[in-house]
Amino acid sequence: MKNLFIVLFFVFLIKAFFCFPDSFDDDFTSFNETRWRKGGLWTNGGDVFQCCWRQDECYIEEEELVLKISDEGCPDECDEMPYASGELRSRDLFTYGTFFVNMKPAAANGTVSSFFTYTSPSDASLINEIDIEILPFDPQAVQFNVWRGGVQDPYKFDLDFDPFADYHEYSFKWERESVTFYVDNKQAYKYEGEIYESEGMKIMANLWPCKADNWCTPPEFQIANNEDDKSKYKRISYTTIEDSNDDDDDDDDNNNMTSDSTTLGLLFNFFFVLLFLFIF
Ligand SMILES: *[C@@H]1O[C@H](CO)[C@@H](O)[C@H](O)[C@H]1NC(C)=O
Ligand SMILES: *[C@@H]1O[C@H](CO)[C@@H](O)[C@H](O)[C@H]1NC(C)=O
Repeated sequence: MKNLFIVLFFVFLIKAFFCFPDSFDDDFTSFNETRWRKGGLWTNGGDVFQCCWRQDECYIEEEELVLKISDEGCPDECDEMPYASGELRSRDLFTYGTFFVNMKPAAANGTVSSFFTYTSPSDASLINEIDIEILPFDPQAVQFNVWRGGVQDPYKFDLDFDPFADYHEYSFKWERESVTFYVDNKQAYKYEGEIYESEGMKIMANLWPCKADNWCTPPEFQIANNEDDKSKYKRISYTTIEDSNDDDDDDDDNNNMTSDSTTLGLLFNFFFVLLFLFIF
């Protein structure tokens, strides 16, 4: 009987590890503690991020998620950084699918407002990341970036609107051999390359005062103490690759993804039944 429990324990452990979460759609009427956590208190290290993450700079206001830059109590209470800011992180790891945000970035020059997926393996040089970043320093563009095994491949897409004036929809579809980026549901850029599923990626959003010459650094970054210091998120959603492909039937070459994960699931079940029979 004891063996049975041990076997079942490992079955659940291993299955939990290999099963990725379902689609979700969060409109931030409240902060879902099961789905998200707030970054803090720590820094990312290096000079590029001029802030620490602090939980009180990430909050819900009028059915929106707000990330805010502040210098209150800094540097003493900000891990020795000149500013504190907000970061949102999913608790789960997600795999292939569509990652969507409806957001209005911060307008303060020298900031970066983001929505991205991220894996930090124990070896930090192997970072995988898919980024959407909007910088007032480059005010008519959105920057897409794909990191594979620590190597980045950025792409700048020119916008025909002012991204700081209003909310817009940005998204990307992460598939086995590509990542396709969209702005207001129109395809903007397709990255060709394989980002291995590995253990999946966290869904994240953050706002940071940035220091990197020729990329984000104005002569001086200053807190305005107004709406310009905030990036705002009305909605974040994730749609599994199966559900994404149900939505656009003409995209035929992705259908093997569904059968792959089903096969994997069946193989696991088969393996565990064998293991079970072997032990008893
Ligand atoms: C909160 O998130 C969890 C995990 O994603 C989900 O199962 C649950 O339905 C969410 N709760 C609400 C109120 O949306
Ligand atoms: C932001 O800083 C850059 C670099 O100094 C400058 O060219 C740009 O005009 C600034 N934008 C605003 C809105 O102040």
